[in-house]
Amino acid sequence: MPTKSRIRELQEEILKLKKNENVFIAAHNYQRPEIQEIADVLGDSLELAMLAQKNIECDIIVFCGVDFMAETMSILNPDAQVYVPEPKAKCPMATMCPKSIVEKAKKEHPDLPVVLYVNTLAEAKAEADVMCTSANAAKVVEALGSDKILFGPDANLAAYVEKRTGVKTIPVPEDGYCIVHVRFTADKILELKNKYPDAIVLVHPECDMEVQEVADVVASTSQMLKYVQDSKEKKFIIGTETGLIDRMRREVSENKIFIPASETAVCRNMKLNTLEKIRDVIISKPHKNLIKVPENIAEKARNALEKMFELTR
Ligand code: 13P
Ligand code: SF4
Repeated sequence: MPTKSRIRELQEEILKLKKNENVFIAAHNYQRPEIQEIADVLGDSLELAMLAQKNIECDIIVFCGVDFMAETMSILNPDAQVYVPEPKAKCPMATMCPKSIVEKAKKEHPDLPVVLYVNTLAEAKAEADVMCTSANAAKVVEALGSDKILFGPDANLAAYVEKRTGVKTIPVPEDGYCIVHVRFTADKILELKNKYPDAIVLVHPECDMEVQEVADVVASTSQMLKYVQDSKEKKFIIGTETGLIDRMRREVSENKIFIPASETAVCRNMKLNTLEKIRDVIISKPHKNLIKVPENIAEKARNALEKMFELTR
């Protein structure tokens, strides 16, 4: 763990390099706080995907998140130079849904639309009719107007969508999940609610349905941030990765209190990105850190992503 002064030194070095080399840094809400502090944009998966429509003026984009997020950025901006600080930062949920599983489900249910969560690899996205994020999943599914859909890879998000919309979801695969969000338990949240009876409970839809059912709010990371910013309440129990709590503590009024629903909800993959790696990728731009999706896959994946924007406009 670098000292505070080392962190400040590295941040200053990156800010200088960023200016000289015309770099744009995009970061997800789960990034380490020292990365959040130097990002040009910080957001949830939807906000970061929407950056593609903003015509960012820069020579390179450094994307701090996990593989599928940087891939989405590259698919939507095929001419942009999108680099990642650490190519090993991958989302395990995305790997639970290879293209072959989607193809099999499509053969078994040829009439059903395929809705996939952005937490998928490009090869799976290319098999989808439309993509969604946790922020807009229910809206996308409602707008599709079908009474039954194939939905993957997160079975908890599928259950959330089914509950919210009444649309029958067939999960693809049957049991895709996030290794971090399944750590939250309803028992622990009920214990915390007992201890802090006036606290509002916010959880991510990647949590088990039992956990969602004891929460006051089920929302994406940036929707949770907005909720706590706008709320008149003072205490919040937060059921998502701890990086969002770092952002809340930094950006939301000092007299609000954020209680983690689990101290161990840390996404190690997100945390593989570090200030040193960001500095190094800007200096040496290694080819292995450049994200490019083959155009035959990117084109189909782009259609599914653009359909998401079209349905939720
Ligand atoms: P958000 O889109 O809500 O930021 O979530 C992304 C994610 O990976 C959750 O684990
Ligand atoms: Fe993937 Fe879960 Fe990490 Fe999000 S928190 S990136 S879904 S492993």
